[in-house]
Amino acid sequence: MPSPSLTGHYQTMNYACAAIRPDFEALNRLVIAQLHSDVGLVENIGQYIVEGGGKRLRPLLCLLCARALGYAGERHIELATVIEFLHTATLLHDDVVDVSALRRGRPTANAHFGNASTVLVGDFIYSRAFQLLVGLGDIELLRLIADTTNQIAEGEVEQLSRAGDPATTEEQYIEVIRKKTAVLFAAACKGAALLAGADAQRCEAMGRFGLNLGLAFQIIDDVLDYEGDPELMGKNLGDDLAEGKSTLPLIRVLATGSAEQAAAVRAAILQKDVSALPEVVRIVRETGALDYARARAEQFRDLALESLAGLDGGVFGANLREIVGRSAKRSA
Ligand code: IPE
Ligand code: IPE
Ligand code: MG
Ligand code: MG
Repeated sequence: MPSPSLTGHYQTMNYACAAIRPDFEALNRLVIAQLHSDVGLVENIGQYIVEGGGKRLRPLLCLLCARALGYAGERHIELATVIEFLHTATLLHDDVVDVSALRRGRPTANAHFGNASTVLVGDFIYSRAFQLLVGLGDIELLRLIADTTNQIAEGEVEQLSRAGDPATTEEQYIEVIRKKTAVLFAAACKGAALLAGADAQRCEAMGRFGLNLGLAFQIIDDVLDYEGDPELMGKNLGDDLAEGKSTLPLIRVLATGSAEQAAAVRAAILQKDVSALPEVVRIVRETGALDYARARAEQFRDLALESLAGLDGGVFGANLREIVGRSAKRSA
């Protein structure tokens, strides 16, 4: 297991340009401050997951989009905190559902504190996000975030209902990851545009930007679950197979592999058999299924970049484009 000291790697925001750092630091301060509760266990679990680090990618996108669109206020810090809280709450719940043991280089909250407290603190963080959001007093933002949160929950349930089902198609998979992951990226970017007072067309384009980036990001996450470095990721490999998740690499093998390869993968999905991981890793490599998934991620990355057409954004815009470039190549 990676040592907790490795989590420093996640805390350093090595994606952020110098110009956004003051905002980024303000965001990190607000995240800590808003976790406050008089109930000790709430603070303990909240701090536990937040101190573990995390890339803070979604809030960074939110901050950068706001500044790239010329926003001169400070309320984007609150919106970015809302976004990170929604992400944090989904991770707490997701690790319970996925029975995951490692997150951000340390035991998951469920492994450390148990399922019941983890689920309840996830609820606390969700509702804290909405308290903060109401403070922003913008009904359009409220609608965007409420719809987003609802879709994430729906996506997670849809994924769960497909667990152990090797008949899942690529289209169904994309629909699940759109809901569970990409809509939050979209809300981070479109929400920033709304806050910045951008016109409707630009707001929609920023939503598409986030959505496509989020799709690319989740596809790579699903590739890394088979061939990532647990030390860099701070998560275990094989969690998806252990839950019988038909992610894109496996869907590709089922569609294009030999009868023998497909049969091995189908059996592993049906039986949620993590002991088949070495064999499945060999198959997703030799069939080119991982390469295919990476290529799909690159297509979504390119769509994301296209959505930024017509937006310069100065240093902030350049940083956004750089982050997109990394997203389909990342190893953590
Ligand atoms: C993990 O997201 C969940 C996915 C959508 C793949 P991140 O990889 O952004 O997690 P942290 O916040 O950096 O730990
Ligand atoms: C991410 O899905 C969870 C949400 C987007 C809600 P995963 O289950 O693939 O994420 P990890 O791999 O646990 O981080
Ligand atoms: Mg998970
Ligand atoms: Mg995953």
